[in-house]
Order: sequence, then structure tokens, then C-alpha cells
Amino acid sequence: MKFFIDTANLAQIKEAHEMGVLDGVTTNPSLMAKEGITGDENVINHYKAICEITDGDVSAEVISTTFDEMVAEGEALAKLHEQIVVKVPMIKDGVKAIKYFTSKGIRTNCTLVFSAGQALLAAKAGATYVSPFVGRLDDVATDGMQLIEDIRLIYDNYGYETQILAASVRHPMHIIQCAKIGADVITAPLSAIAALLKHPLTDNGLAQFLADHAKAAGK
Ligand code: E4P
Repeated sequence: MKFFIDTANLAQIKEAHEMGVLDGVTTNPSLMAKEGITGDENVINHYKAICEITDGDVSAEVISTTFDEMVAEGEALAKLHEQIVVKVPMIKDGVKAIKYFTSKGIRTNCTLVFSAGQALLAAKAGATYVSPFVGRLDDVATDGMQLIEDIRLIYDNYGYETQILAASVRHPMHIIQCAKIGADVITAPLSAIAALLKHPLTDNGLAQFLADHAKAAGK
């Protein structure tokens, strides 16, 4: 399973990269705004800076919502760097744009997916990735992980190559559940990825090993 980090924060992207577990980055307009990145030139430079840190895929989201505008914006984003994947919302013009980008060899991430039907449409349009938002479904008392299971079943039934990129992942158990189901990718904040490291028995065991070693060495 690939690990993407869901942030536009360069320090956190570097930290995840240095851990050796980073396979890519996802951003969205809210995450860019959170880092104070506004204006076309700054946005473009920020995507380039992200691509310099990771050698994996970097999702860059279009802001427009009509077919012609999404095509123009997506083509410009794709030209920025070979690692850029154009992130397109699951709306009618978005599906049409994904089909167009696919025909031009431009990779896409279909975002804001909340149902199996939407995921089926994304795959039929040829999306490289589909992003079901697990945490936001959980937030409205709907089982986000059930959607990952449903999409896995549907894609396997027909051999769709679209990769399931579980998004809106909020905590380490989401990551474990996605791995058990067979999601291809998770995208999560650094805190959720780093939380996989933690176990009190590891900390206690290490402290004991080091103490025993020091005692034996007469320190
Ligand atoms: C996906 O690509 C989105 O950027 C993201 O995962 C949304 O997560 P959130 O629901 O925590 O905002």
C-alpha cells in the first residue's frame, strides 16, 4: 500500500520523506489556503517545491468547475512537472474532463467521492486514482470504510485499474483498516502516519534493553 501525505506544508512533507515511507502528496485548495499560498505564481511555485521534495505523485486540484476551464487549468498543471496528477472533482463536467485527460495521457485523481456509484463513474472515465473521503463519511454517521470495501469489490469484479486512494484518513486505525481491505493508497496527515510507530511495549522494551546493557557494562 502506498502512503501519501495530505498536506501542503513543506516541513511536514520533508519529515515524512525523511522517514522513508512517503510515496506521494495530495493537496487541495483548503490545504493550500491553510499554508497561506495564494495567487497563481505562488501556487505554481509551491507545487514545484513539493515535487522537489518527493519523487512520488503530487495531486494538484483544479479550481474551475466547467469542462473547458478544467481542461485548460489541468493541462497547465500537468505541464508543471511530470509528477503532477490533476485532481478533478466528481461532478458531471469533471467526469468528462477526466475522460479527456485520460485520452491525452494526463493522470488524474477524482476527488470528493462519497459513493460506490461515483467511484464506478471515475473508473469508467479512466481516472488514475479515485479518492473516497472516509473521515467525512464517518463524520455524518456513515461507515466510510464500508465504501472502501464496496469500491474494492466493484473494481476487482471488472479489473478496473483505477487505484483506490483512501482520503480524509484521520487516524492510524483508518490506515490499518484500509490496508486490510486492500486500498491501493492512503493519504493522511503526518500525525496519523507517525502514530503507526507508537506502542508502549516498544518504548518499555527499548528502555529495558538499554538499561540492562548499561548495567552489564558497569555504567
Ligand atoms: C483528499 O485528497 C483530501 O485532500 C483530504 O483527504 C480531505 O481530508 P479532510 O476530510 O480531513 O479535510
